[in-house]
Amino acid sequence: MPRIAVLTSGGDSPGMNSAVTSVARSAAYYGMSLIGIKRGYNGLLGLSDGPEDDIFEMNLDTVLDLADLPGTYLRTARCTQFLDPKVREEAARNLKKLDVIGLVVIGGDGSFRGAQQLCNLGIPCIGIPGTIDNDLPYTELTLGYDTAVNCDVNAVRCIRATSRSHDRPAVVEVMGRNCGDVALATAEATGSEIVLVPEMEWSIDDVAARLSKLVSSGNTRATIVVAEGAYASMKSFDVYGFLKPYGVEVYEGQKMNAKLLASTLTKKTHAEVRATVVGYTQRGCQPTARDCSFALEAGNMAVARLRSGLGNQVVGTRNNRTFHTSMDTALCETRSFKESLYNLINSL
Ligand code: F6P
Repeated sequence: MPRIAVLTSGGDSPGMNSAVTSVARSAAYYGMSLIGIKRGYNGLLGLSDGPEDDIFEMNLDTVLDLADLPGTYLRTARCTQFLDPKVREEAARNLKKLDVIGLVVIGGDGSFRGAQQLCNLGIPCIGIPGTIDNDLPYTELTLGYDTAVNCDVNAVRCIRATSRSHDRPAVVEVMGRNCGDVALATAEATGSEIVLVPEMEWSIDDVAARLSKLVSSGNTRATIVVAEGAYASMKSFDVYGFLKPYGVEVYEGQKMNAKLLASTLTKKTHAEVRATVVGYTQRGCQPTARDCSFALEAGNMAVARLRSGLGNQVVGTRNNRTFHTSMDTALCETRSFKESLYNLINSL
């Protein structure tokens, strides 16, 4: 019976369990056995705290019950040691000892780059894009992104209800690492008036001027959605020098964050701006139908590729269809940011 392996790697994303379930069901359907590797590449290398349990034969019955659950049953980790070629060679040797014909890697950019190196060492790998950040340019959608956006939309709606009640504008910080897609989609879906992303330079003064204009025209509950990476694209601003005289708790050299942004805007606009960081809720939400549907198709496509003797490929979505392409090509693609949408949100 041919055998394949599956692991989840990097930050967990809603839908990873659905993808693993699909891999397990597909393996059973094609008459293959499945090895689960816990804690990503760390598990493969015996680097976790409980290495003896990290590699195991996956039981379809157990997996079936996981399909709808957030998080990842296989656990996950970021493996910095994988940057070392010797460590990657060891990982490839371990996979060969397991006698697998290929490996399904569910993770983001860094996990895919690890898989690419394993392919170069003779291990066929298929990548399923699992990250809430949506920062893999070859695919329109990464697994977990839709759930994270829906989580943020719900958060903004809740915050807006209380903002409206108190006539207070709100700063809402969302995840996305260096990618503004989660923030942009959240702002679009909620009709937020300001969105700040890492892809576009912005200044505190411009944001304060826009907010003042909104408030004076009667929009006292305007919402500012900030991508966590957007502080890097903020025009230089001495937050300490500005806020210290107002008695705001801030230390010299401190970087801008959601709370300081809200305090700065409060002082500049005289509106009572409050901050919320949505945080890990975005990663632990129940996966949406969209993410689970993609997971089912992606898991099946990944196993079908390995069964055909193919590796060095990734699965993604294009024109709302699940597709596969070469991993090398996919990892060379560059992102195009939706600048016109960004401009529309910030000007309407
Ligand atoms: O890549 C997914 C992600 O949730 C990012 O949006 C975020 O910046 C990062 O992971 C947080 O990582 P950690 O779990 O290590 O805090």
